[in-house]
Amino acid sequence: MCGIVGYIGSKNAVPILIEGLKRLEYRGYDSAGVGLLVDQKPIVIKNKGKVSELEKRVGTNVYTAPVGIGHTRWATHGEPNETNAHPHTNTTGDLFLIHNGIIENFQSLRTSLQKQGYKFVSETDTEVIAHLIDSFLKKDIDLFKAVRLALSEIEGTYGLAIIYSKEPDRIIAARKGSPLVIGIGDHEHYIASDVSALLAYTKQVVYLEDGEVAEIRAEGFLAKTILDEDIIKEVTEISMTMEEIDKGGYETFMLKEIMEQPESIQNSLRGRLIPEEGTAKLGGIESELVHIARCKRAVFTACGTSWHAGLVGEYMFEQFLRIPTEVEYASEFRYRNPIIQPEDTILFISQSGETADTLAALKEAKRKGALCLGICNVVGSSIARESDSGVYIHAGPEIGVASTKAFTAQLTVLALITLAAARKRDMSLADGKAIVEEFLKIPEKVKTILSQRKQVEEIAEIFKDATNFLYLGRGYNFPVALEGALKLKEISYIHAEGYPAAEMKHGPIALVDENMPVVFIAPKDSTYDKIISNIQEVRARRGNIIAIASEDDDVIEKYANYVIRIPNTIRMLMPILTVIPLQLLAYYIAVKKGLNVDQPRNLAKSVTVE
Ligand code: M6R
Repeated sequence: MCGIVGYIGSKNAVPILIEGLKRLEYRGYDSAGVGLLVDQKPIVIKNKGKVSELEKRVGTNVYTAPVGIGHTRWATHGEPNETNAHPHTNTTGDLFLIHNGIIENFQSLRTSLQKQGYKFVSETDTEVIAHLIDSFLKKDIDLFKAVRLALSEIEGTYGLAIIYSKEPDRIIAARKGSPLVIGIGDHEHYIASDVSALLAYTKQVVYLEDGEVAEIRAEGFLAKTILDEDIIKEVTEISMTMEEIDKGGYETFMLKEIMEQPESIQNSLRGRLIPEEGTAKLGGIESELVHIARCKRAVFTACGTSWHAGLVGEYMFEQFLRIPTEVEYASEFRYRNPIIQPEDTILFISQSGETADTLAALKEAKRKGALCLGICNVVGSSIARESDSGVYIHAGPEIGVASTKAFTAQLTVLALITLAAARKRDMSLADGKAIVEEFLKIPEKVKTILSQRKQVEEIAEIFKDATNFLYLGRGYNFPVALEGALKLKEISYIHAEGYPAAEMKHGPIALVDENMPVVFIAPKDSTYDKIISNIQEVRARRGNIIAIASEDDDVIEKYANYVIRIPNTIRMLMPILTVIPLQLLAYYIAVKKGLNVDQPRNLAKSVTVE
């Protein structure tokens, strides 16, 4: 979703802003722009489309600006075009700003500002902020205070950066519901919506919290609440490295992230398994484990791929903890006045830790007094900080918009939580040890599957022009069917649906003919025979069957047109393996269709609006 970057210091801001915006491209956007102060004069340049286009328009040596801000916009109010792109300015053009988030009361503010004579040029919600601040500046109020006063009238969410040419030695930044971080350099400061934009320059950062506003100068910064209270901010050292956010020799981030899953899963496991005790140690939730193990009800809340991880978590909790478990879309949970008891455990799963619906659901659950646990990838993200406690999945930065390694790391952490809680309950030492033993083999098994990617690529070549796909699985592999379909939809724009395999005959079977590829996730487990019956039903209708099958399944070839083999493991860990071929299949189909897999159309990496 939208990205923010800013610089103030003695260097030229232009290359820093362009480089920073390129680092944020993965979030998804449709227009880009920069605002600079050149000899204290405001210059705003923006365009529809890519940052590379903006770079050409700004030029590399045309401007020297000691202060500037840059933005990538993902359209919400008003179509993606140059006028709606950020920065937005006041009427005189001496104030310009960039904004992530949504101003909910923009219509009433716009009407009231229009009555005062303000003329609007864009269709955006953001433009009201520029005019509103201007209305306070006109009363001879300084910029920092004018911003705080304007924000006290604004409802909605924002990450904001503002420059005023009459006070050229500062950037004002503000946050509510949309992340913003200040980077500390040597006699210079940066701002960004995401630390990956700052990593090339500094590792010392300060996270702004909701309701905070900062005045940032080259030499330092001052943070206050909107209500003018001073705040002391803590400096955090980022551990992420530049190598981690580069493509590392792969053509795309998505392929790199698929291929690095043996390591990312290993990182999720690192130091957390205790083989001799047949359990797992998860520092972040150690003191909550008894509550989790004995709670009356567990609820997983998330969106998209993270929601699919929650569905797998439901199977794990019910199998090993025997706790009634529900899985809720965060967007539904937050608005239906959920019934929450103090004995409940609510788990919020989010790669980015910034998904607006999941964050709002968390705040609602906290308000109602449940134990709220975060399962996040991005360290220091809003959900990680707002949760009572939680576990990081340690997948490393995920740049490709389609989530891959974060999903398998989420499954890994969910299995670790299940194991640790089950060992506080009924699970025996022997059973715990058997799970730990299997866990330790998973990274190698993932490697084995990845080594067959050529074969998956060949299957992708055959089906790249299909217009529909069905994904079917049972038990633990039903959520994997949903995830396989989502991956394909997201990056190849092929319509795909996931179903529990047995549901097929209640409707989707009507779609099956010789043009319909049907992916069956059919490892040898307790539902194997049933799945074989479902495969035969599709075969009888001339559907094209691609089966994800166990390495030792010597009959599957009789039924399926194409078979991708996976090693055996226990049921709980099987989804970590079965999803890998589906990620590869979606990836190769999209690449063969000539599509941009890292930044698929209309999608954003981190969905920070409702
Ligand atoms: O950052 P989150 O895990 O909270 O994101 C949730 C979804 O937006 C995300 O999983 C989305 O569905 C991905 N594009 C899936 O590949």
